[in-house]
Amino acid sequence: MFLETDSNYLQQISNLNWNAYFIKDFVKSNTDAQGSIANTPEQAVKIIELIEQYRGELEGGVAVRKVEHFQPQSELRYFVMNGTACSPTSEVPAIVETVTQRIDTPFYSVDIAQTLEGKDRIVELGDGQVSERKAWPLDRFAKMLAQMG
Ligand SMILES: Nc1ncnc2c1ncn2[C@@H]1O[C@H](COP(=O)(O)OP(=O)(O)O)[C@@H](O)[C@H]1O
Ligand SMILES: [Mg+2]
Repeated sequence: MFLETDSNYLQQISNLNWNAYFIKDFVKSNTDAQGSIANTPEQAVKIIELIEQYRGELEGGVAVRKVEHFQPQSELRYFVMNGTACSPTSEVPAIVETVTQRIDTPFYSVDIAQTLEGKDRIVELGDGQVSERKAWPLDRFAKMLAQMG
């Protein structure tokens, strides 16, 4: 769920009634000792305040996600360039193809992790401004840019 900046966070998060909440603004999770996971709506509001304190302001708004358990090290970053999905391995998962068909913008990253039940989940999309290469070797990344650009 997305919350507007300065809206009634506590009420909206309480209404979700989830076991745990993953909190970030539209750009970045909270990376101090508290991290981005809250077990109560009150803790979730505290994380929003910490993000505002550390960064000066919220970027865009607040994203609240239900906490899930991902398989360790299962997250992979894909890139979509000019409508083509590119993989750091030889495979592009179906969920990345679905994203590619739905989101029409020249360049962005798509991070996918597997839940403990083996389901693919979109963890994060990025417009490239703060996205590093992650598991992509430099030459593979450069070849993608050269081929798709
Ligand atoms: N809903 C969630 N439940 C549990 N862990 C999550 C959830 N969403 C993200 N994470 C974990 O937190 C990490 C950081 O979240 P992410 O959305 O990628 O933020 P950042 O902008 O800091 O990269 C992810 O790589 C993933 O391991
Ligand atoms: Mg991330």
